Amino acid sequence: MRADNAPVIRLEDYQPTDYLIDTVSLAIGLHPTETRVTATLALRPNPAGHAGASLALDGDELVFVSAALDGSPLAADAYTASPEKFVLHRPPQQPFTLTIETCVNPTANTKLMGLYRSNGTYCTQCEADGFRRITYFLDRPDVLSVYTTRIEADADTPLLLGNGNPAEAGALADGRHFAVWHDPFPKPSYLFAIVGGDLDHVEDVFTTASGRKVKVAVYVERGKRERARYALDALQRAMRWDEEVFGREYDLDVFNIVAVSAFNMGAMENKGLNIFNDKYVLASADTATDSDYANIEAVIAHEYFHNWTGNRITCRDWFQLCLKEGLTVFRDQEFSSDARSRPVKRIADVRVLRSAQFPEDAGPLAHPVRPRAYKEINNFYTATVYEKGAELIRVLKTLVGGQHFRRGMDLYFERHDGTAATIEEFIACFAEASGRDLSAFSQWYEQAGTPRLSARGRYDAGAKTYTLTLAQTTLPTPDQPEKRPMVIPVALGLIGESGRELPLTTADGATDGGVLVLDGAERTVIFTDVEERPVPSLLRGFSAPAILDLDLTDDDLLVLFAHDTDAFNQWQAAQTVATRIIVRAVEALHAGGTVQVPVGLAQALGHFLDARALRDPAFAAQVLSLPGEADIAREIGENIDPEAIFTARKAVRETLGQALAGKLAHLYGELAIDAPYSPDAAQAGKRALRNGVLGLLTAGDAARGEALARAQFDAATNMTDRLGALSVLSLVAGEAREAALQAFYDRYRDDPLVLDKWFALQASIPEAGTLERVKRLLSHPAFSLSNPNRTRALIGSFAMANLTQFARADGAGFAFVADVILQLDPANPQVASRLSTAFRTWKTLEPGRRAHAEAALRRIAAATPLSQDVADIVTRSLA
Ligand code: ARG
Ligand code: ZN
Repeated sequence: MRADNAPVIRLEDYQPTDYLIDTVSLAIGLHPTETRVTATLALRPNPAGHAGASLALDGDELVFVSAALDGSPLAADAYTASPEKFVLHRPPQQPFTLTIETCVNPTANTKLMGLYRSNGTYCTQCEADGFRRITYFLDRPDVLSVYTTRIEADADTPLLLGNGNPAEAGALADGRHFAVWHDPFPKPSYLFAIVGGDLDHVEDVFTTASGRKVKVAVYVERGKRERARYALDALQRAMRWDEEVFGREYDLDVFNIVAVSAFNMGAMENKGLNIFNDKYVLASADTATDSDYANIEAVIAHEYFHNWTGNRITCRDWFQLCLKEGLTVFRDQEFSSDARSRPVKRIADVRVLRSAQFPEDAGPLAHPVRPRAYKEINNFYTATVYEKGAELIRVLKTLVGGQHFRRGMDLYFERHDGTAATIEEFIACFAEASGRDLSAFSQWYEQAGTPRLSARGRYDAGAKTYTLTLAQTTLPTPDQPEKRPMVIPVALGLIGESGRELPLTTADGATDGGVLVLDGAERTVIFTDVEERPVPSLLRGFSAPAILDLDLTDDDLLVLFAHDTDAFNQWQAAQTVATRIIVRAVEALHAGGTVQVPVGLAQALGHFLDARALRDPAFAAQVLSLPGEADIAREIGENIDPEAIFTARKAVRETLGQALAGKLAHLYGELAIDAPYSPDAAQAGKRALRNGVLGLLTAGDAARGEALARAQFDAATNMTDRLGALSVLSLVAGEAREAALQAFYDRYRDDPLVLDKWFALQASIPEAGTLERVKRLLSHPAFSLSNPNRTRALIGSFAMANLTQFARADGAGFAFVADVILQLDPANPQVASRLSTAFRTWKTLEPGRRAHAEAALRRIAAATPLSQDVADIVTRSLA
C-alpha cells in the first residue's frame, strides 16, 4: 500500500482491544524455507472492550495452514484468513482457545522483520510490528501475555534460545531436537524472540543484590568468542548500576545476548533474550575503536535497562514510544557518565542531539516527542523520540530535583509494574512525588520544534546590579503553526571578568540552586551585589534542549572558555567562537574576500592546551574538535552552499593548525601511550586527543602531518590509532592514500565490521571524485545491499556524512542516493526509508541544489511500487 492511501493512525482514536490474550503457547519447527508455527492463544473478552463482534488478528505476508477453536477444527464459514488478517467471525463471549497454524519462509525474509536468517542463524525482530509476520495476533503493545515457546530444529542448529527461563530440552527422532522456554512475565508480542543456530558463547554468573544467581551469556558467530568479553563485562556493570542507582534487580534465571550480522537497527530488548547488531557486541583492540567500545557499553546497557523501562512497564500504544525509549536513553547516558567522564559524555550526547535531532526538529519531518499521528510507526524510531525524549527526562529531573526524581521513578515502578502505561501516567508519578504541578512541563511532549532562547544582560556598575532578560520563541513546524512557551530550566552562573564565579543573589531567590526556570515568553531577573561586570554562563550542562542566542562578544566568550566552572559551557564557549569565525569566513568568501581568523581563538586554545591537554585529554579532544560542516550549516540556516562552508572551515583549521603547530607537535609526542591497549576512558581520552592533534596539525602542514600519519598507520597496535591515521591520510589525494587504503583492506578483508569502516571512510572523502569511487565500490565483491551495516557504511556515510558530495551542485549525489533507495526498497523498506531521511534538510539548501534534491525526492515519490515506509518519509519531506 502507498503512504498516500495508508490510513493515518491517531492517538485520539485509541481503543482497548475487545479480547485479551492471557497465554500464548507456540510450537515452532525451524526450517530454512518452511518453518511451521502453531500458536495456541488463550483468549477472553476484555472487560474494557466490546466482545462478540468479529475478532480480527493481524498478519503480514503469512501463509495460513489451519485453525481450531477449543481444539476442534474451525468450519470454513467461521473465519477468513488472508496474508494480512485472520478474522474469527463469531467469537465466543467467554474464554476460549484459538489454535492457528502458519508457515513462514525465514530465508526469503529480506525485510529482517519477523523470523529471518542472518548468516545461517535463525533470529527474530518483532518491534514494532514483526510478530504478525510469525503468527496471527493482536500485535499491539497493550496486549500482555505469558509465553511458552517450544522450538524444534535439525542437528545443524544445536542452539535454541527463547524468552524467559529454559524449561525443557531433548532429542527427537531423525536427529531433530527441541527446547522449551517459559517466560513468566506477561509481555507484549513485540518483545517475543527466538534464536536458532550454531554459535559460540562466553558466560558468567551474576549475583543480584538480593543474592539470586543469574546466568549471563553472550552468543556470537564461531571464532569470535574472545570479542564478546567486553560486552559481557559491560552487561554485568550495567546490571550492578541499575541496582545501585535505580534499585532495579534482574528478574529471570538467565539473561542471553545474541549478536547477528544482519540487523535493521542497533539492538532489541526482547525479554531475557536481547538480539544485537553484532557491531554493538564484538570488540577487540585490533578491530574496534575506542568509540566502538563506548557504543557497545552504551547499547548493552540500554537494552538491559529496558528490562524495567520498556518490558516490566511497557507502552500502551506506539504513540508512547518515548516512555520507554527516551527514558532508557537517559538511563544509558547516566550509566556511561558514571562509568566515564560526565562532562565529556554530556558534550558527546549534545553533539549527537544537535547533529541528528535539531535538523529533524527544524525540517519537514519534525514531530513531537510524543507524536499524535503516524502512517508508519517504524519511521518514528527517531532522534526526536530517543534523544530529545532523553533530554526531557533530564529536564524533568532538573525541575523536580534529584531526590524527587528518584522517588517518582520508584512510584512509577511500583504503580505500573506489569502494565502498559502512558506518558500522563509517568508524569503523574513525579507530580505526586514532588508535590508540583507538572502540566506545563508536559507540553514538551506535545510540541515539536527546538525553542530558541535569547538572553540579554545589562550591568549597572554604580548599583552593582546585573539585569538579565531571557526570552523564548519556537518556529512553526508541520501541523503546528502556533507555539506555546515551554518550561525551560536554565542552569546558570555569573563569571566575573577577573575569572571568578560570582554569587547569585536575587531579591526573590529566583535562581536558587543555580537554576532559573523560564516558563513564559519572557522573564527578567535582577542580580544584586554584583561586584564586577559579569559574563553570564547560561544553560549550563545544556540544561534544556534549546538553541541559545547570546549577546556576548567573542571576548566575553573567551572569558567563559578560560574560567567557566561548568565544563560543558567552557567547551561551548570555544565552539561558539569557532562557529562565529567560520560563519564570518563563509560570508567573506561569498563577498569575494578572504578568510580571516582572529588571533584570540588560537591564543586561547594555546593557553588551554598548555593548562589542560595532559590533565584532561578527553575533554581537550572535544575542545579541539571544531564545529562540523553540518553545525555551520545549521547556524547559517538557509541558502546553504556546502562548498563554501567546507572551504571556510578548512581555511580556519589551516590557520589554527599553523598557529598552534609547535604545541601540537609537542603534544603529539607527549600523548603517545606505552602501556598495552585498554579501552578504558583514560587511555581512550589520550588517543582521542592525539588523533585530534594529528588532524589539526595536518590541516596546518599537510606534508608533515602526512608523514606522521603514515608512521602512525604503520606502527598502530589498535584500531583507534590505525583508523585515526587512515582518516587523516584519506583527506590527502594521491598514491599514499590509495596504498594505505589497500593495505587496510588486505589486512581486514575477512572482517565484515572492519570492512564497514573501510567503506564508510571512502564514502566520506570530501572530494569531487568520491561519487565515482562510491559507485565503483557498489560493485566491489565485498559490497552487498542485503547487509544493512554494509549499506549504511557506504551509502549512509555518503548521504549523511559527506555534505559537499551528497549535495553536489550538479545534483549527481542526490540522484545516486535516490537510485539506491529505489533499488533497496523492495527488499528492505526499513533501511531504504532510513536512508531517505538524508534529504531531511533539503529545504535549507541554496536554490540550485534545492531543485536537484526536490527532483530526486519527487522521482522516489513517483516510483511504483513503493513501500509505505519510504513513501511516508518522502511525502512528508516534500510537503
Ligand atoms: N527497541 C529497540 C531499541 O532498543 C529498537 C527497535 C526498533 N526496531 C524497529 N524496527 N523499529 O531502541
Ligand atoms: Zn531502546
